[in-house]
Amino acid sequence: MTQPLARHFAVELSPEVEAARQPDAALDAAILERWSPRAFSPRPVEQEKLDALFEAARWAASSFNEQPWRFLLARSDQDRKKFVDFLLPANQTWAKNAPVLIVVAAKKTFSHNGKPNKTHQFCTGAATAYLTLACTQHGLIAHGMAGFDAELARATLGVPTDFDLLAVFAIGYRGDKSLLPPDVQEREAPSGRRPARDSVMEGHFIQPEEKDAEAQTKPSS
Ligand SMILES: Cc1cc2nc3c(=O)[nH]c(=O)nc-3n(C[C@H](O)[C@H](O)[C@H](O)COP(=O)(O)O)c2cc1C
Repeated sequence: MTQPLARHFAVELSPEVEAARQPDAALDAAILERWSPRAFSPRPVEQEKLDALFEAARWAASSFNEQPWRFLLARSDQDRKKFVDFLLPANQTWAKNAPVLIVVAAKKTFSHNGKPNKTHQFCTGAATAYLTLACTQHGLIAHGMAGFDAELARATLGVPTDFDLLAVFAIGYRGDKSLLPPDVQEREAPSGRRPARDSVMEGHFIQPEEKDAEAQTKPSS
């Protein structure tokens, strides 16, 4: 490879993911291994790794290449406290331990003509997905939260009205789950998914009943 910074990351599947998640088709191990734990270690995240996360987000596609995403970062105790204060209480209990918190914002209008950008959230979601996959590639965990007070966050962080505040992400190294409150500990496991075929429709929109009827009439292979 001519560009040494663009490289392959070998992600090993953990035993807990192997036990909980069985893919039905070929996929990159980083996709399967990404999940959202809540137990964070106090270990700080190296600057080089943070740079790698934002670099991954940087290369996402966006309508008109607007790159509507903005990431507001908290690392110091003072900033983290400020960010934790606008999380909902259920998220505060565990997210307060994360060494890095990121508010994800999306610019609502195009910079080239000032018109509304109807895909600003879509494109920012794509960039954030890249960021979370990069976390897995770099041995980090990420947990997204819609459970926060967006207007309090806007006021606290001075975010202009031309930006939507979409989510907060807790990022860091995996920590000891026994330090979590018991009800949160119970949920500390990789989740499953419905089959991909239940999300895919060929030719037109297919209602679930229609799909079931179709499956019953087809001979099994
Ligand atoms: C945009 C977004 C918002 C979420 N909000 C919360 C939240 O407020 N609190 C929480 O505990 N988890 C939250 N989650 C985590 C989801 O519950 C989790 O991603 C989902 O159950 C799938 O599990 P996995 O990420 O472990 O694969 C959120 C995830 C995303 C992507």
